[in-house]
Amino acid sequence: MTMRVFVSRDAGAVAVGADEVALVLGLAAAKRGLEIEIVRTGSRGLYWLEPMVEVATRQGRIAFGPVTEFNANSVLDAMVSGGPHPLRLGVADQLSWLKRQTRLTFARCGVIDPRSLDDYRAHGGYKGLERALTLTSDGILADVSASGLRGRGGAGFPTGIKWKTVAQAVADRKYIVCNADEGDSGTFADRMIMEGDPFVVIEGMTIAAIAVGATKGYIYIRSEYPHAVDAMNAAITAAKRGGTLGTRIGGSSHSFDLEVRVGAGAYVCGEETSLLESLEGRRGIVRAKPPLPAHKGLFGKPTVINNVLSFAAIPFILDHGAKAYADYGMGRSRGTMPIQLAGNIRNGGLFETAFGITLGELVDDVGGGTFTGRPVRAVQVGGPLGAYFPRELFDTPFDYEAFAARDGLIGHGGIVVFDDSVDMAKQARFAMEFCAVESCGKCTPCRIGSTRGVETIDKIRRGERVSENLAVVEDLCNTMKFGSLCALGGFTPYPVMSALKHFREDFGPAPGRLEAAE
Ligand SMILES: Cc1cc2nc3c(=O)[nH]c(=O)nc-3n(C[C@H](O)[C@H](O)[C@H](O)COP(=O)(O)O)c2cc1C
Ligand code: SF4
Repeated sequence: MTMRVFVSRDAGAVAVGADEVALVLGLAAAKRGLEIEIVRTGSRGLYWLEPMVEVATRQGRIAFGPVTEFNANSVLDAMVSGGPHPLRLGVADQLSWLKRQTRLTFARCGVIDPRSLDDYRAHGGYKGLERALTLTSDGILADVSASGLRGRGGAGFPTGIKWKTVAQAVADRKYIVCNADEGDSGTFADRMIMEGDPFVVIEGMTIAAIAVGATKGYIYIRSEYPHAVDAMNAAITAAKRGGTLGTRIGGSSHSFDLEVRVGAGAYVCGEETSLLESLEGRRGIVRAKPPLPAHKGLFGKPTVINNVLSFAAIPFILDHGAKAYADYGMGRSRGTMPIQLAGNIRNGGLFETAFGITLGELVDDVGGGTFTGRPVRAVQVGGPLGAYFPRELFDTPFDYEAFAARDGLIGHGGIVVFDDSVDMAKQARFAMEFCAVESCGKCTPCRIGSTRGVETIDKIRRGERVSENLAVVEDLCNTMKFGSLCALGGFTPYPVMSALKHFREDFGPAPGRLEAAE
C-alpha cells in the first residue's frame, strides 16, 4: 500500500527546511523500495514544530516535528514501523494546540493539497457557492449580515452592510477586490490561507461577486509573498478549468473573472483607497472619503474591497448557515478570529478561536509565554498601529469593543510579545518612525507630525526637558489622531500613548523629580 506523507509547502515551513525534508523523505523511501506519496500541504500553523510531517494511518495522521533533513531518515523508519521516535507528536488532530481551536476558516489549511481542486471539494469545498447559486442576491446578503461577520482587515466594518451598498449601486460594471497586502507586524494569516487553502478565498470572492453583481475581481498581494502569488495563480487556473470561475459559473448565468496583482510594497497600500490607486497603476496615495469605494471604487465603479480572511469566512457561512457562524463569539464580535501569535513567544503560530478568549490566555497559556523564558512585559495587539498592553490588561477579551474601551484595537489579529528587556520609549519612537517612513504624505498631521514625533521622543530619551517634551508628544498625538486623513496617521498615537501611559518609567524621571534631573 502506498504510504501517504504530508509535508507543508507553506513559506514559513519552507523557510525552516520543509523542501529539503520532502526531498530526503522521497529519496530515503526510494532507497528502501517503499511506495510513497508526498503531499505538499499548507501549514497547520504550529510554527515552532515546522517542518511538521504527517503520515496517514488507520488512527489518523500521525505528526512528527520539527523534522530536519538530518533526522528525516529515522522519522521515515518510525513511520513505517509505527514505533517510538523522539519527534513523534501523536495524532495531529488530537494535539492540544489544534484541539482547542475552532477552525471554521482554517479547517482545511494544513490538511489538503492546495493545488488540488478535487481535494478542496472532497473536504467540503464549493458547498457554499453551490448554495449561493440557489439564492437571490438578497438571500446571500441576508446570510452574510445575519452571520455578524465584520471585516478582518482591521476596521471591523460589517461585511453585510458593505456588500449591500455595492449590490444597491447602479453601474455597468462592479468589482471585487481582495486586500492581501497584509502589512501588519506579526501577521501571517492571509499568507497562510492563500498558500494552504487558496480555493476558499476564490470561493468567497465568487460568492461576493454573485451577491453584488460584479463580474471582475482582483487579488492584490504584496510582492514579499511569492509563494502566495503562485498558490493563488495556480488555484485560479484550476478553478477556471473546473468551471467554478470564469463564464457561466457552475452552469449558472453568473460570470466572474479573477486576476492576481502584485503590489510593489508599501504599508499604506493596504489602506483600501491607496490600494485602489495602486491597482489603477498610480502611486499608493490615500483618497479622501467620500466617495466610499462601495460607491466609487476601482476605476470609479462600485467595489467590494475586503480582507482575505473576510472572504475566506464566507463559504462556511453560506454552507452551514449564518447562525452556525454567529453562534460563536461575544457581543458584537461574532464568529471566529484567526489569531496570530508572534514576536518573543514560545509557541508562535496561528490559533483560530471564537472571540472572547482573553489576551492572557492567548499569551501565557496558548503561546506558552516568552521564547526567552523571561517575564512578558508588553504585548502589541493589532499591528504597528495597535496599543501596547501591559500584564494588568491581560484580562481583556478578544473583542472589538473590549479592546477599543481600553484604547486598543484587535486589527488583523496579530499579537507581538515582548519580554522585560524591552525599552518602551524606543518602541514609541519606532511607532512614530514607522509612520514617518510609511506616510503617503497627503496630509500634514501625519507627514509632519510623525517626523516631529521622532525628534521629540529622541529628546525625551536623551533626558532633555522631559516633562515639556512629553506634553509636546501628547499634543502631537492628539493632532494626528483627530486631524489625519486615514488610520496610519490617526492610529499611530495608540502605540505611542499606550507606551507612555502604561510604561511611563521608560521615558525618564517621573514628574516632580524632573527639574533635579534637567
Ligand atoms: C495604513 C493602513 C494599512 C492597512 N493595511 C491593510 C492590509 O494590509 N490588509 C487589509 O485587509 N486591510 C488593511 N487596511 C484596512 C483597509 O483600509 C480596509 O479597511 C480593509 O481592506 C477592508 O476590508 P475588511 O472590511 O474585510 O476588513 C489598512 C488600513 C490602513 C489605514
Ligand atoms: S494619515 Fe498619513 S498615510 Fe494617511 S492620508 Fe494622511 S499622510 Fe497619507
